[in-house]
Amino acid sequence: MILEALNFAATYPLTPRRRRHEISSSVSLWARSRRAARHWRTHEEACHQEVSAIVATLPNTRAVAVLGSGLLRDVPISLLSKEFDRVYLFDLQHLASVRIWARLNRLANLEFQTRDLSGVEQLKAKPEAEPRPLAFLTEIPKLDLVVSANLLSQIGVGIGRMAATDAKLPPQAPERLIAAHVDGLQRLSCPSLLLTDQSYEVIDKTGKVLERDDLMKGVRLPPARAEWSWTVAPYGELSPDYQAVHRVASIPINAS
Ligand SMILES: C[S@@+](CC[C@H](N)C(=O)[O-])C[C@H]1O[C@@H](n2cnc3c(N)ncnc32)[C@H](O)[C@@H]1O
Repeated sequence: MILEALNFAATYPLTPRRRRHEISSSVSLWARSRRAARHWRTHEEACHQEVSAIVATLPNTRAVAVLGSGLLRDVPISLLSKEFDRVYLFDLQHLASVRIWARLNRLANLEFQTRDLSGVEQLKAKPEAEPRPLAFLTEIPKLDLVVSANLLSQIGVGIGRMAATDAKLPPQAPERLIAAHVDGLQRLSCPSLLLTDQSYEVIDKTGKVLERDDLMKGVRLPPARAEWSWTVAPYGELSPDYQAVHRVASIPINAS
């Protein structure tokens, strides 16, 4: 609790005013990732392996962009820092603990950028047009790889919540923004890797599935190279009686 309060306080001045209301959800994610570290390990290792595999295929390693970089847990950040000249990190929020860790580890070529990657503002401004939330990536010079790091389901969930209270959002906003993210990766002239949880199940101790849902809201993704399960909430996290297990896919796009 004390560490959480300290992280919140240290992050506050580093965060643009309009994004400060999001600090507490990042601190909660950070705290959960520490509590559930043992259960998240295989997922994080699988993500690292998938990123390392795509990096090994690249002819050039000048700049890489990580979308949903957050806590820097599911990308091999030391490898990216070593292999690439510049590492651009985009998220709604980068906690002070993450920035301090990067500084202590002398990862001097990381560039933290606060950005809403959902495209919701574009969708609100022009509901009839298809949003292009990743068009900004074309402005990054010498971009050789983009990694979307377990962000896409969060866009669906976040916009779904927003749609319940914001009348300006057109129908099917979550589905349209999920599709726009995939389309944005496919339009890039460099390879990309889409890591995303696609669905989840809530399972009780007898193995009975109490709830399941499609986190991609029916949007079809390109074929996966690998898939695995991620126990996002082990027993005791949400309830002593059930756990939440997500199904994750690794999807290389325009890769060799
Ligand atoms: C499941 S976490 C993945 C964290 C990260 N990849 C890591 O290695 O720790 C999802 C991340 O997506 C970010 N996120 C959610 N919605 C976003 C949005 N609209 N724009 C940018 N980032 C967003 C959250 O802040 C969070 O860091």
